[in-house]
Amino acid sequence: INQRLTPQDMVGLTVLVTAGPTREPLDPVRYLTNRSSGKMGYALARMAALRGARVVLVSGPTHLEPPTPVETIQVETAAEMHDAVIRYAHSADLIIKAAAVSDYRPESISTQKIKKQAENLVIPLQKNPDILAELGRRKGQQQILVGFAAETHDLDRYARNKLSSKNLDLLVANDVTLPGAGFDCNTNIVRIFAADGSVEALPQMDKNKVASEILHRTIKLLRTHRG
Ligand code: CTP
Ligand code: CA
Repeated sequence: INQRLTPQDMVGLTVLVTAGPTREPLDPVRYLTNRSSGKMGYALARMAALRGARVVLVSGPTHLEPPTPVETIQVETAAEMHDAVIRYAHSADLIIKAAAVSDYRPESISTQKIKKQAENLVIPLQKNPDILAELGRRKGQQQILVGFAAETHDLDRYARNKLSSKNLDLLVANDVTLPGAGFDCNTNIVRIFAADGSVEALPQMDKNKVASEILHRTIKLLRTHRG
């Protein structure tokens, strides 16, 4: 991807992107996580930087190279992601939450390795803060907020619900059961739900291309918001 061939339509904008899974420790050798690869979020960060934006990427643990012109902050837990995001949120024109944040964390972290004992083990979990919902509650007039949702069923209903309950401008949803849209895939098949009630179903495409499509729509929204 060549910068000369990319429209420089994000110059002067600050974009905050989150990517990857979070990792919630249980003891010194174990953690709770999910299948997110971080590819979608990294593609968004890279493409926004190519279009001239100042990009801050808050990333959970991934195997990906940090995109070069991007300030990358590595975090592990949802609590760490929360703190990093809140620190940068106020200065962002656009926030895209592509990270797959763990909904729960082990209630307590054992300082010693948990030893094998009874036949059944129950691990109490505590709900993590919903970072995106918090951003939605404190969203500035001029700020555009984009969420992601990976679903296995009832995608439209859940997507519309997340869009309105978290006060988002766009919600990008994908059905992870479709081939070509799952975790760790280089392509994605998404539907983009907008706050005006519209929905667009994009065909299967490379994640860089999906990122460009999402950014294109956020730029249009920023322009209409700002006149
Ligand atoms: N999200 C977040 N903080 C959380 C959970 C989710 O910021 N603790 C964000 C994700 O980054 C994503 C969006 O909320 O942009 C939707 O995440 P998702 O897991 O699909 O929705 P939830 O509200 O957690 O609902 P559920 O997991 O029950 O579908
Ligand atoms: Ca969730």
